[in-house]
Amino acid sequence: MGLTAVLGDITTMEVDAIVNAANAALAGGGGVDGAIHSAAGPTVLEECQAIIANQGPCRTGRAVATSAGALPATWIIHVVGPIWTQHEPVENSTLLANCYSSSLDVAAELGATTIAFPAISTGVYRFPRELAAPIAVSTVLNWLSQNKRNTSVDTVTLVCFDSENLRHCQQALTDIA
Ligand code: APR
Repeated sequence: MGLTAVLGDITTMEVDAIVNAANAALAGGGGVDGAIHSAAGPTVLEECQAIIANQGPCRTGRAVATSAGALPATWIIHVVGPIWTQHEPVENSTLLANCYSSSLDVAAELGATTIAFPAISTGVYRFPRELAAPIAVSTVLNWLSQNKRNTSVDTVTLVCFDSENLRHCQQALTDIA
């Protein structure tokens, strides 16, 4: 069981499930969401639209799964991160932590062993990166330690798209792990 941080493009990760930093409408967008949808192909957006038609918009911090289309992964877990300017700092931290724990809950329900996360909310949604990294690391480590006896999830990778996010994640791993 373990947590690591790497520099890379999440669309290329050969894991069971990758997490997408989506919006409430699961409508696709720019950033990692755009990269995932364009690499996965149109079937994933169709599945997202069916989820929205069935349940309405996704709440912040909640995760839903689709297949992964043309990606090497088997599933995409779509989760909506907090928009930094819409909440108080403490609420932002709770909502971001919920993104990681609810995605891991969904991964466990799917029976996924390996899961990769992007740095949720640290792009367009403007969550400060130096605050987001320790929340990601501590939430994943707590979830793994609380669920180690009864989960398929074994290996979690934080996929950083730039060296600044990687530095924050490595610092958090050193401080917390
Ligand atoms: N692989 C991994 N990480 C990536 C990739 C990629 N291919 N592309 C971008 N990133 C990183 C960014 O560098 C950023 O640190 O993902 C992080 C999250 O940034 P955004 O994609 O902007 O996500 P977020 O801040 O959560 O905003 C979500 O943006 O694209 C829209 O539809 C999306 O409305 C939603 C909003």
